[in-house]
Amino acid sequence: MNSESVPGGLEVLRERVNRAFETLYGGEPSFVVAAPGRVNLIGEHTDYNDGFVLPAAIDRHVVIGARARADRQVHLYAADFAARAEFSLNDVHPDPAQTWSNYERGVAWVLQEEGYGLQGMDAVIAGDVPVASGLSSSAAVEVATAYAFQVLGDLDLDGVKRALLCQKAENEFVGMRCGIMDQYIISLGKRGHALLIDCRSLEYRLVPIPSGCIIIVCDTKKRRGLVDSEYNTRRRECEVGAKALGIAALRDITPEEFEARQSILSGVTRKRCRHVVTEDQRVLDAVQALESGDQGRFGQLMNASHISLRDDYEVSCRELDVMVQAAWKHEGVLGARMTGAGFGGCTVNLVTRGAEEGFQRQVAQEYMEQTGLIPEIYICAAEDGVRLLA
Ligand code: GLA
Repeated sequence: MNSESVPGGLEVLRERVNRAFETLYGGEPSFVVAAPGRVNLIGEHTDYNDGFVLPAAIDRHVVIGARARADRQVHLYAADFAARAEFSLNDVHPDPAQTWSNYERGVAWVLQEEGYGLQGMDAVIAGDVPVASGLSSSAAVEVATAYAFQVLGDLDLDGVKRALLCQKAENEFVGMRCGIMDQYIISLGKRGHALLIDCRSLEYRLVPIPSGCIIIVCDTKKRRGLVDSEYNTRRRECEVGAKALGIAALRDITPEEFEARQSILSGVTRKRCRHVVTEDQRVLDAVQALESGDQGRFGQLMNASHISLRDDYEVSCRELDVMVQAAWKHEGVLGARMTGAGFGGCTVNLVTRGAEEGFQRQVAQEYMEQTGLIPEIYICAAEDGVRLLA
């Protein structure tokens, strides 16, 4: 069990990248980019329904050190897997033997599809965002890669466009039909804040994290690959529901209207839609609660979100439920829920400042007793989105 401090940290990551760069390519990278992971406070499985989400970028990162090449080759070294990959910008396709590199390849592919002129590069990648744990390490790789190409080629690409293109790379190149949330927050996050994102208009509002609250992430250590999961099925179920209700997306119906019309939907579709429709409302209520200083109400909405994800959307699992229930018992907890796509990974907890140590001890203890797994529990600060390291 790790506590408080971020293992690794940005400086350590940069050191690792620089050392590997020197060994492999000689000399130093000409710049180093850092893209954060993310945690979603509330608004799960709403982004691909044109709805609302409230994520924050966190102080765990994917770091890329890069230098231009004179040719059209991209040379990659993933320090965390001790693996190398190479491809030519003249012929970018997925590599089934080195699936980790498909995120970088996908970004190169999409940028060129959109007409951006790219330059070859030597690059080293390292990170301390846990992989396949629901904190968006893959989106961080995509956004960091896009930013590196942007710096190299001086590309005109704003934060929203960058997010949209990275999402397209993941949808069409990697084959995972994710929404916009992860790439958006990683592209545009702000230190000390969560972002209320309207996933239809793609506008956002900054929501300060109250100083009396701490965000704690609990990693169940139960891993589950997103593409293998039932994510794409859930997405289809939502589309079926919206069509039957005669609306463009589940965003377009209030909980009251849904209540009145839900009987036209079949059992499973009805449950899936009910989650999304009520979750959108919870996000808006939660932002209002936070902005009016009612952190207790915010926490209750987080708890309700977990129950809805567990019972109606059915994307939780035993480990997530045990972790959340252990958190709910702790008196310093305002709210706790699973975060991200589900089926394993992490929970997010809003904890009263001062209660964090007791929380870590008690929740870890109870989780270990009930599951036999050793969790990782750490305090997160809300960070800026992708940036160049000075
Ligand atoms: C994954 C996807 C996001 C979002 C969440 C669930 O993280 O990448 O787009 O749909 O799951 O809220």
